[in-house]
Amino acid sequence: MAIHTIDDKEIESSVRAASELKGYFASRSSELGRKITYNLITYGCQLNESDSEKLAGMLESFGLVPVEIPAGSDHLIPADVIVMNTCAIRENAEDRLFGNLGVYKKFKKDKTVSFIAVCGCMMKISKNVDKIRSSYPYVDLVFDPQQLHRFPELMLASVAVKHQKIDIDNIDYLVEDKYLPIKRERRFRALLPIMYGCNNFCSYCVVPYTRGRERSRNFDSVRDELNALADAGYREVMLLGQNVNSYKGIDNEGNTKGFADVLDAASSIKAFSRVRFMSSHPKDLSEEVLSLMGERDNIEKHLHLALQSGSDRLLRKMNRPYDLKSFLDIADSFRKKVPGGSLTTDIIVGFPGETEEDFELTLEAVRKAAFDAAFTFEFSARPGTPAYDYEDQIPKEIVSERFARLLELQNDLAFKSNSALVGKTMEVLTEGISKGDDKIYSGRTITNHLVNFRADPEFIKKAGIADGDDLEGALIPVKIERARPYSVDGIMAGDIIR
Ligand code: SAM
Ligand code: SF4
Ligand code: F3S
Repeated sequence: MAIHTIDDKEIESSVRAASELKGYFASRSSELGRKITYNLITYGCQLNESDSEKLAGMLESFGLVPVEIPAGSDHLIPADVIVMNTCAIRENAEDRLFGNLGVYKKFKKDKTVSFIAVCGCMMKISKNVDKIRSSYPYVDLVFDPQQLHRFPELMLASVAVKHQKIDIDNIDYLVEDKYLPIKRERRFRALLPIMYGCNNFCSYCVVPYTRGRERSRNFDSVRDELNALADAGYREVMLLGQNVNSYKGIDNEGNTKGFADVLDAASSIKAFSRVRFMSSHPKDLSEEVLSLMGERDNIEKHLHLALQSGSDRLLRKMNRPYDLKSFLDIADSFRKKVPGGSLTTDIIVGFPGETEEDFELTLEAVRKAAFDAAFTFEFSARPGTPAYDYEDQIPKEIVSERFARLLELQNDLAFKSNSALVGKTMEVLTEGISKGDDKIYSGRTITNHLVNFRADPEFIKKAGIADGDDLEGALIPVKIERARPYSVDGIMAGDIIR
């Protein structure tokens, strides 16, 4: 597969198409006497969320407005334009798409919905595209995640032909963010992909097939974007990639830069209260990065490092080139260099051939690493990956039983991690008003612990904050009063810091 970097010239046709679509929707809008709406539904990881911020930016550049989603609704409400940005990581993600597409069939028929586009990782898997072609003819446009920048062109062509348009390419494009309008989900947080794709080919994972070969963005372009984000008032930046530690970007002078250079550049910007990054692979994480995490106040004191299994035999079979000992050495080094930091992980239960002994090694590893939190997954056999063809698949009941045991252990560890915060006053970067209670705010500590807190009316008044303000982006000292399994409760304990 070829890697192709998009330049100013090549983006021109997209810009032209966006402006034609703007005209098209403006006339639709005046015909109907109302604004044309869109509903963008996103599945999957932060990279997909980041892609969706760009899709939303493009949709709004066509003059569309987001449909209102009433509180408590399931997000699948109709709009003139529906875009589904899909994920293929596990089978249940795929099932969800087809179920949800079915919901829109009647809306398309009665013309409540006029256009449906499906994109994202699932569209790089041919059987999914075939299924849409044969069973979902009312879907107007299908395209793959590498072609995000071509969305305006593809949508324009699809609107013109008035029958299903499918465009799946085999090129790994590298598109700098400056070329695309971005509508950020959060007022204070900027998602910033520094690289795309993955070369690791873990034997269970679809990502190298859906996102293509690893490619890093130009270092100076990333640095310019960091400065622009700081100038625009963003407090938090999240550096994204499937394996950020293998970032290898070139600067404008032709020098090669690594992830430590990006982290250094981001954390040197004092306007950022938080610099975060996702994901790291144990084989590439350097001591230099761990040292920076310890030294710089604004780098999140949280490392997400996927273990996957505590059995060296299974790690080899998963094509994860590290062993438990080296993983635990990194965990030790992190705990030393970043005292009080939190370590989180991903674990797969029921990988083909997993014996009870292998699983117990995983439980033992989880105890030793004392993870502050973990995303635990039942193995899902993904067509096209080597693990799909392994004959020693584990029966569902065994996987579920092991999964429950792992969850119980991890919940205890997470509760312990949360309990250790009780009595401390910590700076919380507020994300907004809590979903369940409008008197409670929620946010995260620099260790990525989730905090729900009450804001003292005295402090609120003193800070000149209006009633009902959601405090999104405010950095607030919070005294932690109580631990729960997945969060802690607290109370605002001083003036807003910034
Ligand atoms: N690149 C990241 C890394 O290696 O740390 C992981 C990204 S992947 C989107 C997130 C997690 O999904 C993986 O760490 C793995 O635990 C899980 N995962 C991937 N493929 C899976 C599969 N076929 N079945 C179950 N879980 C899977
Ligand atoms: Fe998937 Fe492995 Fe790449 Fe992570 S490193 S995205 S698990 S292939
Ligand atoms: Fe992310 Fe899912 Fe694709 S986890 S990279 S959206 S397969």
